Amino acid sequence: MPKSDSPSPAAVPRVALLVSGRGSNLEAIARAAAGQSWPACLALVLAHREDIPAVRRARELGLPVRILPLNPAIDRPAQDAQISQCLEEAAIDWIVLAGYMRILSPAFVRRHAGRVVNIHPSLLPAFPGLHTHRRALAAGVKLHGATVHLVDEALDAGPILGQAAVPVLPDDDEARLAGRVLQAEHRLYPPVLRALIEGRLRVCGQRARWVGASAAADPLLLWVPVA
Ligand code: GAR
Repeated sequence: MPKSDSPSPAAVPRVALLVSGRGSNLEAIARAAAGQSWPACLALVLAHREDIPAVRRARELGLPVRILPLNPAIDRPAQDAQISQCLEEAAIDWIVLAGYMRILSPAFVRRHAGRVVNIHPSLLPAFPGLHTHRRALAAGVKLHGATVHLVDEALDAGPILGQAAVPVLPDDDEARLAGRVLQAEHRLYPPVLRALIEGRLRVCGQRARWVGASAAADPLLLWVPVA
């Protein structure tokens, strides 16, 4: 077979989704990725247990799933090294946390610096950690929402890539507010991820900037109207 002189096409970036729970963000990303001209391949869904809804959803969506049980006999950095090995075996470029509720060790974050993305259900830096909707209600904030960010070594911290704000309404309880934020998450995560992978969103220090024709969208702030 004669060799072609044309350069080989650029490799399609490979994304791993790390999940721990329900999987609704995984599904939002998978549905976006099934659309036209998505720039990456959803190459792996990684979970530590088979019996979680996110794994069932991933299988229903036809995504490749790997279950990597965590070995309680080894420490977190060693567990995370096993995760790294699994990601490297699958030649993963982007690590996307979609409801992944384990805290990753600093060594893991350093090893994959700038390539780990997370979504958190608050307008960071407000309300890192758990029970964000309950705490937002208790604090009396009028705006709440979700943040997509690069992961750094601190909890729910790192350069902010995009945020979606939703109103907090007078008769909200935790469940109603959580539902409104989750809808916003599903609208926020896929386009931010896409822009990052396509290089339309670049990170310099703590700040992310949209470049080129997307610059008008900086910052990406989605207002999700109340139904
Ligand atoms: C989402 O609300 C996500 O923002 C949150 O877990 C939920 C997962 O839902 N993540 C965190 O709190 C991470 N700090 P999902 O499994 O249906 O996507």
